[in-house]
Amino acid sequence: MTGSPSPSIGALAIQPLFPVALGQVQLALDPLELAIQLQALYGLRGTALSNPDPDCAWTGDLNRVWQLHLHPAFAPLIDTVSGHAQAYLGQLGFDPSRVVLHLQRCWPVLCEPGQVVGRHHHPNAHLSAVVYLSGDGSGDCGCLRFWPDRQVNELVPGLAVGHGGPLGSSGWLQPWMDVAPRAGLLLLFPASLDHAVLANEAADVLRVSISLDFVLTARADDPDPPEYLAPHPCQWQQR
Ligand SMILES: [Fe+2]
Repeated sequence: MTGSPSPSIGALAIQPLFPVALGQVQLALDPLELAIQLQALYGLRGTALSNPDPDCAWTGDLNRVWQLHLHPAFAPLIDTVSGHAQAYLGQLGFDPSRVVLHLQRCWPVLCEPGQVVGRHHHPNAHLSAVVYLSGDGSGDCGCLRFWPDRQVNELVPGLAVGHGGPLGSSGWLQPWMDVAPRAGLLLLFPASLDHAVLANEAADVLRVSISLDFVLTARADDPDPPEYLAPHPCQWQQR
């Protein structure tokens, strides 16, 4: 025999736990600098309009253009991005006196109509950034889609995929999150986070972005680097 339910004092509350830190800031792009940058990128891409797969956007990291930070046309922009990356680390709680941020790789992505960038993450890096040089915020030229590492709220692994339920959609089961490109928008996110570029569905818009990979190490003058944080590269020994 079942007794009567215990009375409740208030409704069930669900609390969000463990948020992923997506940094966003709108940069003011100088029109003249932007024109010079776009011209430089067209030149760097040359005649290749894609990665080996014609449906995949042209990405500099696969085409020997992975040090855009050394190009003078991009130096001020990279400085700005790096400043925001430092602020992002500060908000996460990193002690700037004990951590050094290294820009490891910086490459352009030029996505023609119909092209995509497949789902991936950046296992070589710790912090990733992307800044858009085109896009109107509508998402027409291809949103950046992020996926969580695991969908723990689906409780039963795989159930959030759908196919007739019995699990419907809710705010607690967001399978991904899309961010629409807008010229000047800068995003900062953990490099381990899976992401992809959805198809550029704008008929005549070239989707242009610059990706950056950062690595964290201890300071060069730190005599006792923290556990799990790599010593500064100047203290490494090539063998
Ligand atoms: Fe990426």
